[in-house]
Amino acid sequence: MQSFTFYSPTEIVFGRGAQEQTAQKVKKYGGTRVFLLYGGGSVRKSGLLGEVEKTLADAGIEFRSLGGVQPNPRLAFAEEAAKEASRFGADFILGVGGGSVLDTAKAVAHGVANSDVPLWSFWTREAPLEKTLPVGAVLTISAAGSETSDSAVLTNEAAGQKRGLSTNLNRPRFAIMNPELTFTLPPYQIGCGIVDIMMHTLDRYFTPTRGNALTDEWAEALLRVVVENGTRALEDPHDYDAMSELMWCGSLSHNGLTGLGAKMDFAVHQLGHELSAKFDVAHGASLSTVWGDWAREVCGEHPERFTRYAKNVWGAASAEEGIEATVRYFRSIAMPTCFTELGIGVQTEETVADLARRCCWDDKRTIGSFKVLGREEIARIYTAANR
Ligand code: NZQ
Ligand code: ZN
Repeated sequence: MQSFTFYSPTEIVFGRGAQEQTAQKVKKYGGTRVFLLYGGGSVRKSGLLGEVEKTLADAGIEFRSLGGVQPNPRLAFAEEAAKEASRFGADFILGVGGGSVLDTAKAVAHGVANSDVPLWSFWTREAPLEKTLPVGAVLTISAAGSETSDSAVLTNEAAGQKRGLSTNLNRPRFAIMNPELTFTLPPYQIGCGIVDIMMHTLDRYFTPTRGNALTDEWAEALLRVVVENGTRALEDPHDYDAMSELMWCGSLSHNGLTGLGAKMDFAVHQLGHELSAKFDVAHGASLSTVWGDWAREVCGEHPERFTRYAKNVWGAASAEEGIEATVRYFRSIAMPTCFTELGIGVQTEETVADLARRCCWDDKRTIGSFKVLGREEIARIYTAANR
């Protein structure tokens, strides 16, 4: 086995009615003045926001709520929210929503704790992040895994950049996970979530590292469970068992467990982030758009890994059949597998070249580790998906 460090400190409250414990957990982690963030209104409509606010009020916890976080959350919004949270004197940030809300909550926590540092400089690594405020999560969509992950992803609209920041300071103190809270999701968001959950494990499983038997088995099991329950969830979004399996997989897929001791790849995420930055498309959809063409580009590097994946996840006989089975599955859950299916149409050669230039940061970085990709390989993948 390879050596590793595993750190997943988030306390998880999972199951029906879990949100009733929100105030109790806020108190446990030292919150007395809570700045609550939510998105475009789904939690207001479902009644969850009122319920959470009531638990805080009943517990005598001061709070202020701010809605309006958009998918592909914006830096400018987080900066403003951090100022407001500072004025309020917040000592705890609570996100009620999905990855976009939770990542904004993390950013606001960093902003309040470091009000003298430009927020984006943590994302560009110009400033080291050394302190933050505690964050709690009430999760409403199984997808990004932000409720336990060490990551927060923001879009800097002015710069046209979408970037992630990974640090243990991004780990929420607690996550409230009630699968019933996901029953109101539209099918498209369920599909995006399924892809993202799969991708957090696929981007770890396709690694050049070998010798981690249990980690590999975990990854394959998680993928099989997501595939099966993803289909069931889309047939009936009120299927508690299916929605709960997806929710738990969402957290375990991105807390590090399915890639322990292995070099991560995450090229597909970088390819997808450029599409979201330029076209403001949903994260999960950006990933399924490029995965098939990424897989065909890198498969020859370690074909035995793709053959194993095909056999153990899809019961397929060859690497190629495993890739095809994956792409077919994405289509079966109405997720895009090329630019036109993503809804952005066929792009000009210049646009494709620009996407590749941005993705490799003007040749300042490569992406991936299963196969290391530079500008040329990145351009080849975008070109293949541009149909
Ligand atoms: O804004 P509201 O009205 O709440 O609607 C949201 C939004 O339109 C809706 N939604 C969420 N829960 C709902 C619901 N609608 C009805 N009922 C519910 N229960 O779904 C839409 C998408 O929400 P969003 O938070 O954007 O989804 P997701 O959780 O997929 O988050 C995506 C963001 O997370 C980032 C992505 O890049 C993207 O910006 N990621 C964050 C990661 C992390 N922090 O670890 C890792 C991921 O790889 C990812 O990059
Ligand atoms: Zn993701």
